Amino acid sequence: MDQYCVMGNPVEHSKSPWIHARFAALTGEPVAYGKRLIPLDDFAGSVRAFMREGGRGCNITLPFKFEAAAVVSRRTARAALADACNVLSFEGETIVGDNTDGVGLVADLQRNAGVQIAGAEVLLLGAGGAAAGVLGPILEARPRRVVVANRTAAKAEALVARHATLAAANEVQLQAVPLEAVAGSFDIVLNATASSLAGAGVPVPGSVLRPGALACDLMYGPAAAPFLQWAREHGAVGRDGLGMLVEQAAEAFLVWRGVRPPSAKVLAELRAELPA
Ligand code: ATR
Repeated sequence: MDQYCVMGNPVEHSKSPWIHARFAALTGEPVAYGKRLIPLDDFAGSVRAFMREGGRGCNITLPFKFEAAAVVSRRTARAALADACNVLSFEGETIVGDNTDGVGLVADLQRNAGVQIAGAEVLLLGAGGAAAGVLGPILEARPRRVVVANRTAAKAEALVARHATLAAANEVQLQAVPLEAVAGSFDIVLNATASSLAGAGVPVPGSVLRPGALACDLMYGPAAAPFLQWAREHGAVGRDGLGMLVEQAAEAFLVWRGVRPPSAKVLAELRAELPA
């Protein structure tokens, strides 16, 4: 069996081992996938230890995605743009860092939720690690306009500046605004803030949602509940981040194994496993 794992802190409740076990079973790939609780002060040493043990690659979750981008030997273009890695592949002594969060979100929205990003107006709330991970692939799906709104406006401006060339290449109007200056309404609203975790509620008015808009939280479970309730109250279609989780895992499996697993089937199975 080829060894993989997810590294994080905390990692106890990660769904990744379950998801990759299903991918392995359904594709017949000889993959064994565990989870490792990594000390906060020894991420790099932990990655090297897993390599020495014969590991083939790993997923990286909070809080190590930025550190991962700093320890790798080489980054894919999408990981460089995100400045964060959620997938590492070991090739001899070389560690290749990738980021499949954004392609996972786009795959979930387009394939699983049936939402068309091309031509849409998109509001991205937040400019931290989660937002940085998804902005590139969102732009490549060619929406008409993307507004990045963040409490700390300078972070939204920096994220937008880093993506300006990609936005222009895809003919997307991309702008940064402070949260309190968000105006107008949108077809797709993506919540990449930690405001629910902070117990602070949704930081923009319901008027940002067009009737029937898609409102997707990048988190799932209780962390996404306040945003999904807000979406329902304002006539939007709510979606949590479980589909993104499964799709980013499917992209990682593809990177490692060259085989695309049946992600929609595994997402349906995972939803059935979890409490409503
Ligand atoms: P993550 O990796 O989950 O994105 P992060 O990089 O710490 O975590 O980013 C958290 C995001 O949530 C940021 O956009 C943050 O805004 P600031 O950049 O102004 O800190 C946003 N956030 C956190 N708490 C918030 C709140 N109460 N209201 C609005 N935005 C909040």
